[in-house]
Amino acid sequence: MAGGNSNFPRTLRAMDLEIRDTRSTYEVVAGEFARAQAEGHPELRHDIDSFARMLPPALLVADVGCGPGRDLTLLRAAGMRAVGFDLTEAMLRVGGRSGVAQADMRHLPVRTGALDGIWCQAALLHIPHRYAPAVVAEFARCVRAGGAVHLAVAEGSGEGWEEFAYGSDGRRWFAYHTEESLGGLLAAHGLAVVEVRRHHHRRDWLRMLAVRNA
Ligand SMILES: C[S@@+](CC[C@H](N)C(=O)[O-])C[C@H]1O[C@@H](n2cnc3c(N)ncnc32)[C@H](O)[C@@H]1O
Repeated sequence: MAGGNSNFPRTLRAMDLEIRDTRSTYEVVAGEFARAQAEGHPELRHDIDSFARMLPPALLVADVGCGPGRDLTLLRAAGMRAVGFDLTEAMLRVGGRSGVAQADMRHLPVRTGALDGIWCQAALLHIPHRYAPAVVAEFARCVRAGGAVHLAVAEGSGEGWEEFAYGSDGRRWFAYHTEESLGGLLAAHGLAVVEVRRHHHRRDWLRMLAVRNA
């Protein structure tokens, strides 16, 4: 991993409203979120297995937008060395997992090509559309050729504020994606989609697994 992220203080100072308010809401609901989401779901297990099959054991992966870190435990149980990054300090603290750091997914504190994989579960959906290309480019930068990227996002079109979740009336920004829009973005950054799956749980979920071209 890199020793630090010189971009991070600048990002915090100039943080956009959508990202700042979403983070503020997660600061408040972290405990309730961790309780509500502790169990996971069958689709998650399937996606962890698909992701693990792409990668020999003991390789280094990052769970980006890891929240309290439920998936870090699953990724480690599947044989991977997994570190976690999240913008919300309370989410990292409440999970109490080792190997986590606060970071904005637009500027990850990772050396170019240092990761064998990125796991990003239900987190890209909080990034305004105008930053989605920069995030996908950042993921492509961090993952070595042949490495894997897993994305689970809310499926649909448009973006906007959603209120009332996990016992709070705080607002979170939701940006929706389609297979075409996200697939196009991945392809444009050298990430070839190898698996697309969907399920419905409170909203429509789109899950994509991609491999970094040489
Ligand atoms: C719905 S939670 C998902 C957490 C976890 N991946 C899971 O599935 O349980 C979304 C997470 O994305 C994080 N997040 C939002 N914007 C972020 C950003 N710009 N960089 C890193 N993490 C961010 C939030 O702090 C929150 O923990």
